[in-house]
Amino acid sequence: MKLLSNFYQVSGEVLTHRFDATAYLVNCGEFSVLIDCGTAEGYEKLIENIKKCGVEPENIKYIFGTHGHYDHVGAAYLFKEKYGTEVFLHEKDVERVESGDGMKTTAELLYGKSFTAFKVDRILKGGENFSFGYINIEVIHTPGHTPGGVCYVLETTGLKVLIAGDTLYGGFSAKIDSNEEDWKKSLDKLCDRQFDLMVIGHSNPTLLGDAQDRLNDARNSFAHYYNPWFKTFKDKYKY
Ligand SMILES: [Fe+2]
Repeated sequence: MKLLSNFYQVSGEVLTHRFDATAYLVNCGEFSVLIDCGTAEGYEKLIENIKKCGVEPENIKYIFGTHGHYDHVGAAYLFKEKYGTEVFLHEKDVERVESGDGMKTTAELLYGKSFTAFKVDRILKGGENFSFGYINIEVIHTPGHTPGGVCYVLETTGLKVLIAGDTLYGGFSAKIDSNEEDWKKSLDKLCDRQFDLMVIGHSNPTLLGDAQDRLNDARNSFAHYYNPWFKTFKDKYKY
């Protein structure tokens, strides 16, 4: 579904499969990129959705992973095998996807599936900027949900769109190496920035226009009751 002129949501619970996190297609002109790509279960529908956006899947040059979880990058091996797509991921989540760790990728932990390991082509550290024609993608390292979690800032048509992945509203568990102090610092980092729009890792196709308020509320409510997202906050915002 089209969100901006060259920015589409192509995966998610209602668009592809109930396992799938959100994935976004960015049409850069000469080629396209995906930000996350969902699971193998949703892959066929994802391909259909990409085609509906006027993009052939072989024209997808890169997948930017927000973190090494099954629901976000489980289908990456299929893109690599079929289309030679290169996968970008933060260095601290590389080991879990390259070893196919069923727990740390959540594949077995949450979905009862095995994770098909794949090689990461470009290792991110945070702070990188990728300029593709009229598009810019900035990498912000935001550990907490996982050690290698990142947010991407997409700049297009004069707007800065925060692609937050699971840094907003993701689950907290020692089994996936979540870290409360790191997560708080990551939220501080995001609160210090300005974004025009935001999208999150699990939602129906939606552009959120109140990124600053939501980020500030998230930082203030984070880890109350050791439930990452304070109950009244969840009641206040329904997704
Ligand atoms: Fe996650």
